[in-house]
Amino acid sequence: MTHESRVRRAYVETYGCQMNISDGELMEGILETGGYEIVRAPEDADVVLVNTCAIREHAERRVLGRVSQLNGLKRDRPDMLIGVTGCMAQRLGETLLEQAPYVDLVMGPDGYRGLPETLGRLERGEGEPVPPPPTASARQASKKRGPQLAVLQLDMDENYQGLEQRRTDGPTAWVPIQRGCDHRCTYCIVPYVRGGEKNRSALEILAEVRGLADQGVSEVTLLGQTVNSYVWDDVNFPQLLRDVARVDGIRRVRYTSPHPNDVSPELVEVMAMEPAVCEHLHLPAQAGNNRTLRRMLRRYTVESLLEKVDLIRTAMPGIALSTDIIVAFPGETEEEFRDTLDLMRTVRFDEAYTYKYSLREGTPATRLPAEDFVGPDEAQVRLQELIEVSRAIQAEINVSEVGRVEEVLIEGSGRDEGQIRGRTGRNKIVVFDGDPDRIGTYTQTLLERTSGATFAGSEVTSSAVEPVLA
Ligand code: 5AD
Ligand code: SF4
Repeated sequence: MTHESRVRRAYVETYGCQMNISDGELMEGILETGGYEIVRAPEDADVVLVNTCAIREHAERRVLGRVSQLNGLKRDRPDMLIGVTGCMAQRLGETLLEQAPYVDLVMGPDGYRGLPETLGRLERGEGEPVPPPPTASARQASKKRGPQLAVLQLDMDENYQGLEQRRTDGPTAWVPIQRGCDHRCTYCIVPYVRGGEKNRSALEILAEVRGLADQGVSEVTLLGQTVNSYVWDDVNFPQLLRDVARVDGIRRVRYTSPHPNDVSPELVEVMAMEPAVCEHLHLPAQAGNNRTLRRMLRRYTVESLLEKVDLIRTAMPGIALSTDIIVAFPGETEEEFRDTLDLMRTVRFDEAYTYKYSLREGTPATRLPAEDFVGPDEAQVRLQELIEVSRAIQAEINVSEVGRVEEVLIEGSGRDEGQIRGRTGRNKIVVFDGDPDRIGTYTQTLLERTSGATFAGSEVTSSAVEPVLA
């Protein structure tokens, strides 16, 4: 059977952050529009795309292992194409094609619009590494490897305007409003693999949210690398957030990840005033010491961060806060690390995502004095201590919330038979007895116990909370 005579099937496997998950949906949407059928298993696919993350070395190692495993499928189906897309593809570029000769395509985050055409070229055997033009030795190597393609241009205008994600049915949806980042935090690879900040038109975003609400989506999460620096014509992020929160049928709005510097009084006011905006904020602090923050080029101080926390909590005393923290940034002293622990104890975040610094080639932090780098054992000790401190705080907060009645959106099944899992507006997970066909609906739950991180609860029927009329 020739390629042209039947529908081609594509499988997309995504790693990494919410933005990447959303990009995976975008790639599926583009492929579907381009005539591909999307399948759920690599064994069923003619094209397998692995959508990768480059934020830490660990994430890349995992993906490389997976790509080589997928190559096993080519033994029985030599026609199958394997593509590596996303941030790691952009970072490694053609090196990846040389290291993994069974990979047919590497494509960075700005290449997805042309996916069907690019795959079509490969199917017709038109591939060759571009750009730059292959050297004689590269050309020789590519002959041995078979046709390959690299699509690595970053495009200052590509915000995927006019294209839509292929979303699986469900009550929640990611809505990308911005791509790339204009900051240059010295540890971070994102600006180099995703380029500068590009925002989408506010009109298009609102039309998309209205469409989602019409299809039964009731919770949306607005996505961007520094989502709250969004601006389009005269619409800034607080205004967009307010407009999205007022769309009929939208009951919950979240956003991630904001930069602390763009948490403005106007944004805090919109969050406090709009009932649909969830009482949860992810506020990446990264460190709790001013010298480290300065060397990270975060552009705020511990004091100004604490002022933001005050501003937020004054307007929304019940808000749940989460954060990202990096330990063992090059040159971080033990004392400076202790300042980060102090910040955790001062703010008392409901949840902390904690990372050991991971060296990313090409980022400014790699040029810090090598002798100042924190050794792996010391980094592990710091990470462990940070995890202990943040988990203890999380457990204390959650224990103090036992006994509350909170609304949850039922998102899925629980681990045990007969249980379902919901999320509160404050982003806490509650597991309780119930029927999985209620996924997508809202209910009130009593938080009965906590494991520290999540809750076990029970549903509160309306007769239990309202007085029974005689
Ligand atoms: N090493 C460790 N953690 C990192 N992050 C970003 N870059 C690195 C790195 N090189 C973390 C930051 C960011 C989160 C998504 O990943 O905390 O907020
Ligand atoms: Fe990376 Fe900093 Fe941009 Fe976040 S704000 S994506 S940490 S450079």
